[in-house]
Amino acid sequence: MLRRAILGMAIAAVPMGASALAAQPGAGGGPGSRPGRGPGAAPPVENKPLGKSDAEKKILEVLDDMDRNQRRGMMNVPTDDGRLLRVLAESGGAKQCVEIGTSNGYSAIWTCLGLLNTGGKLVTHEIDAGRANAARENFKRAAVDGIVTLVEGDAHKEVAKLKGSIDFVFLDADKEGYSDYLKQLLPLVRPGGLLLAHNVGSQAGAMQDYLKAVTVSPDLETIFANMQGTGLSITLKKR
Ligand SMILES: C[S@@+](CC[C@H](N)C(=O)[O-])C[C@H]1O[C@@H](n2cnc3c(N)ncnc32)[C@H](O)[C@@H]1O
Repeated sequence: MLRRAILGMAIAAVPMGASALAAQPGAGGGPGSRPGRGPGAAPPVENKPLGKSDAEKKILEVLDDMDRNQRRGMMNVPTDDGRLLRVLAESGGAKQCVEIGTSNGYSAIWTCLGLLNTGGKLVTHEIDAGRANAARENFKRAAVDGIVTLVEGDAHKEVAKLKGSIDFVFLDADKEGYSDYLKQLLPLVRPGGLLLAHNVGSQAGAMQDYLKAVTVSPDLETIFANMQGTGLSITLKKR
């Protein structure tokens, strides 16, 4: 198994299989700001997100508040996964992004942090009205409501209405539904685009079809990140 340290996170190119997919012991996602004790547990030095512009500082304040006060019942990604979403969206120059599973908007706001600098937009889908309302409020507070569109309803039906090329997809909703989302969205993802899926370690059993599909196709390159937490797969649609 080839392991690489990228951006202080354990990213592994692993063959599909139970041992590769199992969550590993160690620090959870956490705030990603504290030095870790064990190898691969956390960055070797304190590594807090630092705002460069006023807009970025404001967004980071809202994210920090959500982290401290809104996590209960919201099933948000760990902070390190949010930071990875931002890094990948911004470094890839993403313009059109799609998220399935908004909750109260935590991961969406991390993604928007990258899109501020690419001129990109995010369409995010949420089936639960209460969480959708909370997300709208948070988007306003973070002043990203101009670049994010929240689609309320069953994403399996709603994504069928999406048109045009997509640069970046993040799946974080019903795990059994990941293979349907893949079937519907992969044709829209541009060559060189990314498709990320959350909980590939903690809920691998519910998404075996998806995991198989993204690891057996020669058209795709999939790596697994943050497996010491709940796990995130990152799939490149090859050019
Ligand atoms: C794990 S939470 C998302 C967390 C969010 N990505 C974050 O990190 O802030 C999953 C969300 O997906 C939503 N969901 C589940 N099935 C859905 C569906 N078919 N269509 C749209 N949203 C769905 C749930 O209501 C829930 O809010």
